[in-house]
Amino acid sequence: MSTTAQAHPNIALVKYWGKQDGTGNLPATPSLSITLDTLQTTTTVEAAQGSDRLYFDDKAADDPKILAFLAELRRLYDIPPLTVRTQNNFPAGAGLASSASGFAALTTAIDAECELGLSRSTLSALARMGSGSAARSIFGGFVALEGPAWEARQVLAPTEWPLTTIVVITSSEQKRIPSTTGMTLSKQTSPYFPAWVTSTRADFDLGLLLVARRDFDALAELAEQSCLTMHALMLSTRPPLLYWNTATMACIEAIREMGQAGLSVFFTIDAGPQVKAVCLPQAAEEVRSTLQQISGVEQVLTAGLGNGASICLS
Ligand code: PMV
Repeated sequence: MSTTAQAHPNIALVKYWGKQDGTGNLPATPSLSITLDTLQTTTTVEAAQGSDRLYFDDKAADDPKILAFLAELRRLYDIPPLTVRTQNNFPAGAGLASSASGFAALTTAIDAECELGLSRSTLSALARMGSGSAARSIFGGFVALEGPAWEARQVLAPTEWPLTTIVVITSSEQKRIPSTTGMTLSKQTSPYFPAWVTSTRADFDLGLLLVARRDFDALAELAEQSCLTMHALMLSTRPPLLYWNTATMACIEAIREMGQAGLSVFFTIDAGPQVKAVCLPQAAEEVRSTLQQISGVEQVLTAGLGNGASICLS
């Protein structure tokens, strides 16, 4: 018997960067995200003989983060050695949240394969141990992740406020500094870290209010501010975390110009050089065609809001 699950990446509008001290991979800040639909991770698990085996795109892989995650789950549940096969339909490790969809799909598949019968909230808390943002990919639509439980919850279903995200890939190389390393460095070295934690708590509360009101313009301003504040924190880290390239900057400028010309669009960027332009569906065509003409842009993907992680019935 084997079980296959799928999950989508999510993009934070109010960002998380930094962890609490201690165990459990608890974020230092709350966050608010949207789950995308067309980008997807598909993961199959089945009991194996001997030890765990991992395959990415059918190639044998050795991923310490996944092996540590499996070891952590086995402290809580009876889980046999597993063969894990995982595939992404988008570039992994390049700031497109492949770890979010990856750990959400893996946790969901293990729950079904091992008949653990866990609730979505528990799956979210477990996925978070693999990657903070993975807690959010268990759910679809608009999703909040906050303490003290640090289990994500859905704020709005995908159909309740459909937005479109244009994902602009400006480099498909693996990112240089993984987010966990970067977060530790920011907490240890940036003079801005305490201010970041305080301002993000306030941004999160405001974000929930604006999503409930479907106030696109105010959410646009807040999301860009949260993104730029996170990148200011990254830049003030020692050694500096500079994830952008020239095309990233050109996309930001183009999105700001479109916004000033009256289009409903804003940008957000994570720990990589890709730019996500979030817009109202009626603006998507123009946003996409403008961004794909920018020099250095390699690929442009379009996504609506997606559902949470689910089991694929064969
Ligand atoms: O899920 P992690 O621990 O790799 O962190 C992701 C952090 C950002 O993507 C930069 C921001 C966020 O809230 O998703």
